[in-house]
Amino acid sequence: MKIGKKVRFILLMGLVLMVSACGANETGSKDSENNGGNEKKTLRLVTDAAYAPMEYMNGDQILGFDIDLAKAAAAEAGYELKVDHVGWDPLFVEIDTENADLAISSITITDDRKMSYDFSVPYYASSNEILIPEDSDIQSGADLTDKVVAVQKDTTGHEIAESILGSNHKNIKPFETTPLAIQELLSNGADAVIADKPVVDEYVKNNSQQNLVVITDDSFEEEFYGLLFPKDSKLVAEFNEALNKLFDNGKYAEIYKEWFGKEPDIEVLKA
Ligand code: ARG
Repeated sequence: MKIGKKVRFILLMGLVLMVSACGANETGSKDSENNGGNEKKTLRLVTDAAYAPMEYMNGDQILGFDIDLAKAAAAEAGYELKVDHVGWDPLFVEIDTENADLAISSITITDDRKMSYDFSVPYYASSNEILIPEDSDIQSGADLTDKVVAVQKDTTGHEIAESILGSNHKNIKPFETTPLAIQELLSNGADAVIADKPVVDEYVKNNSQQNLVVITDDSFEEEFYGLLFPKDSKLVAEFNEALNKLFDNGKYAEIYKEWFGKEPDIEVLKA
């Protein structure tokens, strides 16, 4: 009886693997080849589209600064993109298993991640910030030690919360998405959220009736976003070349201005 169940489980897992392998080929990842002629190869890009204005869903469309930039870089490098919203933790799994060719998702380039993945050159300078109710007494990161802090799980904001709260880390509430962490703050289940600057700024701008404010802590380090690839992907060099072209030919600035309404500081990316 027990063995029968086991065998059935193994067969089922086999089937699941086969089906997902087929999916991978259809969408152009792994080793699908240029089908001759001039037809462009399609790459599969994965993202967590719950991070406006960087990547977000609008109906069934995936939009955002990151998405426009990735498409422009892909076009420059001679590829088409198929963009899939898979979620934050899952996007790393998709890259681990090479079911996706690349990811863009405001992913901070960290030493830790560099051990398992390859990154492009930096394409955006950011930092974590603290989102709090207007009437909060929190003034900096140091004030969070005895507070309840909501974060998106496995982000750099989560790491910062862990380093500040230390032995109080039980007061950290990790969520699958940043909007869920913000929801927790709004329903008084948390005192603060730590997340990336462009995203908390956008939230406050679009939701003034919630009476939230963003505060900066100068001890939070500057972070740089990169495109994420499987280790040793040959696409890294191609996308770096493409990104550098976009920096130089004005296309990056054009996309940046469209989303943020101001000129980018490209020098800070090259430093
Ligand atoms: N920059 C942070 C990190 O890399 C958070 C990114 C979260 N991105 C997202 N699309 N949810 O850890």
